[in-house]
Amino acid sequence: MANKFDVVIIGAGAAGLMCAAEAGKRGRSVLVVDHAKKPGRKILISGGGRCNFTNYDVTASNFVCRNPHFAKSALSQYTQWDFIAMIAKHNIAYEERSHGQLFCEDSAKEIVQMLLAECDLPTVEQRYRCDVHDITKTDSGFRLKLNTDTVECESLVIATGGLSMPKLGATPFGYQVAEQFGLKMVPTTAGLVPFTLHKEEKEAFAELSGIAVPVTIEAEDGTYFKESLLFTHRGLSGPVILQISSYWTPGQKVTINLLPDVSLSDTLRAMRESNPNQSLKIALSRLLPKRLIEVLIERGDITDKPLKQYNEKEVASLDAYFHSWSIAPNGTEGYRTAEVTLGGVDTDELSSKTMEAKQVPGLYFAGEVMDVSGWLGGYNFQWAWSSGYVAGQYA
Ligand code: FDA
Repeated sequence: MANKFDVVIIGAGAAGLMCAAEAGKRGRSVLVVDHAKKPGRKILISGGGRCNFTNYDVTASNFVCRNPHFAKSALSQYTQWDFIAMIAKHNIAYEERSHGQLFCEDSAKEIVQMLLAECDLPTVEQRYRCDVHDITKTDSGFRLKLNTDTVECESLVIATGGLSMPKLGATPFGYQVAEQFGLKMVPTTAGLVPFTLHKEEKEAFAELSGIAVPVTIEAEDGTYFKESLLFTHRGLSGPVILQISSYWTPGQKVTINLLPDVSLSDTLRAMRESNPNQSLKIALSRLLPKRLIEVLIERGDITDKPLKQYNEKEVASLDAYFHSWSIAPNGTEGYRTAEVTLGGVDTDELSSKTMEAKQVPGLYFAGEVMDVSGWLGGYNFQWAWSSGYVAGQYA
């Protein structure tokens, strides 16, 4: 005899735990299973251990999804203010950082503890180190063969996340379930991920590893971010690169404005006037890290000579160079370091109001497993909370 539950949730991460708590509060009998030893591993390591759990400013435009309207309903059914209210109810201290990002003051552990406290209901059972071997559709719902026993449920929620950071237990399980039930997929790729560079640039810039520069960056589709760029020994990282990586496809260039708040031609003209014998290297080192300027000179990208020797055409071309520094990344560091997975279960297959598969009654998806990926800044967790909450209302 199979154990019967109203709802089985696969994945005890951010979305799965939120969904379990909400379905449990409705009086549904819930089983949440995870193959990991413990719940919420990604929450624990997120935001440098402080979990950037949401953002003051959340709209559907902060998400990458083939259907730009899909996220709207869930984000309005469960908003950042709802999550902040839950945080306040559990007396978790938090702080605002730049761009409206909210972090725990103490530890991301508090978020996991809060979700577990919300799940602490007689209606909710959790099982860890639990593998799902097989799922079949029955007349009344689903039958799941687990490594321990067989369970049946009316509603099945897939909250197994994306592919990023396989060493934290990420698997393609959710995509396989979607395919088993005939749901279309949007091809997956790593998002919010550092860029690698071609050999010559990688070698030239490796010595700048650790240097950060405030820049603006633009993808070929016109998407634009203003944040900090970090040189690494593998290539380019920092918030601005992670953000733009979600809008980049192999073969494309990104255009970086290394001096977003400076008119370089005006500045160079003024410097030439006041100090005509000063070298370009010294002049530019007042605006940007000296080692970066030296590397650009060593590569022959710019020529170093006294400012008085620069004519107007050369000043204009220096201005253009620094305001639109064009880089063609070799690739990304991939799922090993990506914060998120772009693509996933095609949202055309799902109801934006309930997260239920349109063609498979009783089958729900929540969180990163679907083709909804947020910007850096707490948006991916907000999607997990919102979609998990919504699935929990209907499953
Ligand atoms: P999540 O990955 O959280 O959970 C999926 C669960 O399913 C896991 O517990 C996993 O073990 C389980 N599972 C997978 N396969 C299974 C299987 N076959 N059988 C059983 N269980 C299975 N976002 C943000 O907003 N702010 C931040 O600060 C950060 N920081 C951050 C840092 C790092 C290093 C990473 C990698 C990611 C972030 N993110 C983030 C992104 C955020 O962590 C992510 O989007 C959410 O955790 C997604 O929540 P889900 O519940 O969908 O998946």
